[in-house]
Amino acid sequence: MCGIVGYIGNKKAYPILIKGLSRLEYRGYDSAGIALLQANDIVNVFKKEGKVIDLTEFIGNANTEGTVGIGHTRWATHGEPNNVNAHPHTSGDGTLTLVHNGIIENYDVLKKELIKRGHTFKSETDTEVLVHLIEEIKKNSGVSLVEAIRIALNEVHGAYAIVVISAEEPNKIIAAKKSSPLVIGMGEDEYYLASDATPIIEYTKNVVYLEDEQIAIIDRNNGLRIISISNTEVSPYVQELEMQLEELEKGGFEHFMLKEIYEQPRAIHDSFRGRLNAKEGWVSLGGIKAYEDKIAKANRIIIIACGTSWHAGLVAEYYFEDLARIPVEVEYASEFRYRNPIIHKDDVVIAISQSGETADTLAALEMAKAQGAILLGIVNVVGSTISRVTDAGSYTHAGPEIGVASTKAFTTQLTVLAMMALAIGKKRGTITDEKFQLLLDEMEALPAKIEQLLKNADYIETVSAKYKDAQNALYLGRGSSFPIALEGALKLKEISYIHAEGYPAAEMKHGPIALIDENMPVFVIATHGDNYEKLVSNIQEVKARKGKIIAIVTEGDTNVKELADYVIEIPDAHEFVVPILATIPLQLISYYIAVMRGCNVDQPRNLAKSVTVE
Ligand code: F6R
Repeated sequence: MCGIVGYIGNKKAYPILIKGLSRLEYRGYDSAGIALLQANDIVNVFKKEGKVIDLTEFIGNANTEGTVGIGHTRWATHGEPNNVNAHPHTSGDGTLTLVHNGIIENYDVLKKELIKRGHTFKSETDTEVLVHLIEEIKKNSGVSLVEAIRIALNEVHGAYAIVVISAEEPNKIIAAKKSSPLVIGMGEDEYYLASDATPIIEYTKNVVYLEDEQIAIIDRNNGLRIISISNTEVSPYVQELEMQLEELEKGGFEHFMLKEIYEQPRAIHDSFRGRLNAKEGWVSLGGIKAYEDKIAKANRIIIIACGTSWHAGLVAEYYFEDLARIPVEVEYASEFRYRNPIIHKDDVVIAISQSGETADTLAALEMAKAQGAILLGIVNVVGSTISRVTDAGSYTHAGPEIGVASTKAFTTQLTVLAMMALAIGKKRGTITDEKFQLLLDEMEALPAKIEQLLKNADYIETVSAKYKDAQNALYLGRGSSFPIALEGALKLKEISYIHAEGYPAAEMKHGPIALIDENMPVFVIATHGDNYEKLVSNIQEVKARKGKIIAIVTEGDTNVKELADYVIEIPDAHEFVVPILATIPLQLISYYIAVMRGCNVDQPRNLAKSVTVE
């Protein structure tokens, strides 16, 4: 969480920083700030509670000169969101200014020590402690700024991506990272720094991803130099970005979330392009090819993820167990990492993450790595930390997802997991040729079926309007549609703030049925397949208690239509791909309800897209 930006070059820094912060706002948006180094070596700091737009209004016509600057958009961890706790933070003497993404875990001990040495603090943040620590080391030891930063970073525990400027060294910008991401864009005599590449892409495609425990020293006259925090030189590895600028714009849609829902046919197609060919009858994921034998021989697959990505893992459990006959455990990364799990060398651990930066997922991976497991990543953001720490993996190729609620990231995760299960099932001989071919055909038909489904959006909007004032909602599904019920409920609660629960339909009678009355909307995934009859019975149970039933059904269904208040049809499809198709109307329902309730769908309260703190 938190987005950081920096610029040093010949252009005016202010507009670059503000635009960069807007692009990074999905990472946190409870306060924002910038610091500009002025020609007279004065650092001008502006900070404001609220969004980046509030910051720009606050700055108004103030002096925003300067060709060196840093900026920050915050998701509060230490200290409530307000003007004082907003970044940047400055040293006691005002010369150093710093922005930070991450958590300094031993800040309390350091703060007490610094207070003893005469430091006073304005904010409640861990970040202010770090800038004071650097100041203290610099003054006390008489070392250079870079050396003071290096020593300070050896003293702190936790996660950081920082960018520092100094009024005493106006031609420099210094950055460092550990466990929080930082990218450096290499322009012509200018450098851009950011938490991800989105603020950089319109200026340059050449980037350096800073690695953990590295410090980047950018000097206006001498360019970029990288050292490790143990003080060894590192040669910068410049990579070319594949992202396009248009992918970061709303493209005529009212919200990023809606745009991203509509992008799903394309995103899923991109996800299997070159990896699956139904006509020729093959599926092949290049990124895991070298590990296919090991995966096929795995004792067990452990899937670790958080939130929506965890739901993708739950669907994958059905995929792998059914097609590849390998036992699967799906774990919340945040629980797994703290419970001393049993991990064997022939276990395959798959981390699923849109951002590739989720702190708990990363920590769980590190733990599994230490115990010798094979690590695979299913990640959307190219070059992200998880994609780099895993042994192998597959990108989802969804393209940048800006809306905080995961949509196309989820359905492309399912697409990649389905392909992986098919590839491994084929290799193990646990899937018949007929079924393999059938499922390849079903996968390839997905983009067209989603296009067809999206044509029904107006009707889904009308249905959504009926439930916009609900206070609670229940989502039911069975089999591989049960995780989709969980996902539907999560989507509704996170963007519309309606309390919602997802349940396996048969579990309802063990408790949640008590909640059902005439005010309770119950969304049921009741498509054709093995569980259909049983779902019809579950719908009867809801109806008998006067619950309102909104059912996702297979086109042409008549049984459920008679029972339900509303039915939303999805194109006829094999159960294997139903989780992907059934997700789309649930995304749209959440979206429309949230918009009708006046909620900020792209930036829901208290959330951030990239959860880089545990
Ligand atoms: C919900 C949502 C979150 C993320 C979760 C994991 O819509 O987006 O629940 O799925 O924070 O994030 P990643 O996938 O980046 O690891």
